[in-house]
Amino acid sequence: MLAPRVLSRRSVVILTTFSIFITGLLITSSRLGAVCEDGSSCDLSNLRHSLPAFGGADDANYRHQKPPHPNSTDGSEETDNSRSNSECANFPDTSNVLLVMKTGASEAYSKIPNQIITNLKCLPEFMFFSDMAEKVAGYTIHDSLDTVLPEVKLKNSDFDLYHRQQKCPTDQESCNKNHKVGQEAWNLDKYKNIHMAEKTYALRPNYDWYLFVDADTYVVWPTMMKWLEQLDPRDTHYIGSVAYVANFPFGHGGSGYFVSQATMKKFFEGKTGVANRWDERVTKECCGDYMFSLALKTETEIAVKNAWPTINGEKPHTLPYAADEWCQPIVTMHHASAQEVSEIYAFEQERNFSYPMRIKDLYHRFVEDRLRAARDDWDNLSDDVFYLNSSASDYDDWELKRAKKENLSALEMAAHQSFDDCRRACQSLDECFQYRFHNGICAISYTI
Ligand SMILES: *[C@@H]1O[C@H](CO)[C@@H](O)[C@H](O)[C@H]1NC(C)=O
Ligand SMILES: *[C@@H]1O[C@H](CO)[C@@H](O)[C@H](O)[C@H]1NC(C)=O
Ligand SMILES: *[C@@H]1O[C@H](CO)[C@@H](O)[C@H](O)[C@H]1NC(C)=O
Ligand SMILES: *[C@@H]1O[C@H](CO)[C@@H](O)[C@H](O)[C@H]1NC(C)=O
Ligand SMILES: *[C@@H]1O[C@H](CO)[C@@H](O)[C@H](O)[C@H]1NC(C)=O
Repeated sequence: MLAPRVLSRRSVVILTTFSIFITGLLITSSRLGAVCEDGSSCDLSNLRHSLPAFGGADDANYRHQKPPHPNSTDGSEETDNSRSNSECANFPDTSNVLLVMKTGASEAYSKIPNQIITNLKCLPEFMFFSDMAEKVAGYTIHDSLDTVLPEVKLKNSDFDLYHRQQKCPTDQESCNKNHKVGQEAWNLDKYKNIHMAEKTYALRPNYDWYLFVDADTYVVWPTMMKWLEQLDPRDTHYIGSVAYVANFPFGHGGSGYFVSQATMKKFFEGKTGVANRWDERVTKECCGDYMFSLALKTETEIAVKNAWPTINGEKPHTLPYAADEWCQPIVTMHHASAQEVSEIYAFEQERNFSYPMRIKDLYHRFVEDRLRAARDDWDNLSDDVFYLNSSASDYDDWELKRAKKENLSALEMAAHQSFDDCRRACQSLDECFQYRFHNGICAISYTI
């Protein structure tokens, strides 16, 4: 019979807290009343009566929605930068390309504002799609998932974050505390791609090209535009950096993929609910970029064309620099932090938005000056061939897979012994550019 006593003790605590709160309110209100010039609007007793807890008003009274922008019926962003801003004087005319950027409410504030003031600054128009409708820095972010079938959203833990975000009464960062938001955002992300393409076409059906990217993708526009000049948007193009799921090719989403007017038309024109036909299937698959490719192929027979390394998933500090990619043009980069987006943009400004951007240009600007003969506690991403201690056994499978075990020269045989042995082995091999010595493993790389 413990429960009633605990309860009553609890209600005493609650009542006490409550009356302290009310007293606090009254004191605050009289103080505020004293300092306010316009007494009536500062009188908290009015506010108190309208609080939901007092049975006063419902939530609607607390919404202070501004009326929608009179000229923006669909929330796409038309900027006037490219014409009015001298910074954009050398920027190419991109008016036949629509940039469609995918983000999530848990990351939008850390990525979008920086994109807007750098990489997107000179674009006449772009669109943002997310897992929640909101405004970030004054720009409309569309909810790409509001049209996902209700039965797919219901009792689907992939949508936990989606529902929590909408109920969040403060900021998302606070509401996401104590949740594995990175994983949750990833689970939700795969439902977006087809819906955002369908919504984009419904809102903007007349562009020559549609470029789909993530919020941590950098687009090298001057080089992109020169490339697009050579392609005909009346042909059915779907171009990206090809990756595979179960042997099925798709354009990797973070690297960005672009589709032509003809492709979008064939995919969506005169049809309804194209994306909804795939909602159920998405629950069973890993990734939205893969689903986009599978849906496009099924609906239209159009398959992805590979444009790696020009469409690229790396960035200046992770690109492998070597002969075969050295002179290739590059138009996208991925996993770029806000700082990196900003730095690449600064580089483009220095170059007066000239073209082409080649992979070697990034090397000269971002890597060359920072190379050192040796660095402590530094992973320089040497991963091509491993030299292991053949008498030791505690290696992981992935390490063993990369190990060279046969036909070792004397220098290679000694490579695992020390940093200097590793260096000597590297220097004995024509194709070795750099090396890394860590935990008794000498790893060499054929690229910088
Ligand atoms: C809306 O569009 C009209 C006509 O294009 C223009 O004159 C007006 O300034 C615009 N209003 C706003 C708030 O941008
Ligand atoms: C960029 O333009 C400025 C001003 O026209 C010029 O002084 C500078 O040399 C140009 N830089 C490059 C890399 O073309
Ligand atoms: C990688 O490490 C080696 C050895 O320390 C060094 O010679 C090389 O410059 C490094 N490369 C980079 C990109 O830091
Ligand atoms: C190689 O592994 C053996 C067995 O664990 C160990 O005794 C030996 O010290 C290792 N050699 C080096 C150079 O780390
Ligand atoms: C080792 O060398 C022999 C003789 O040159 C060659 O036949 C064999 O394929 C080599 N093994 C590997 C794994 O490269």
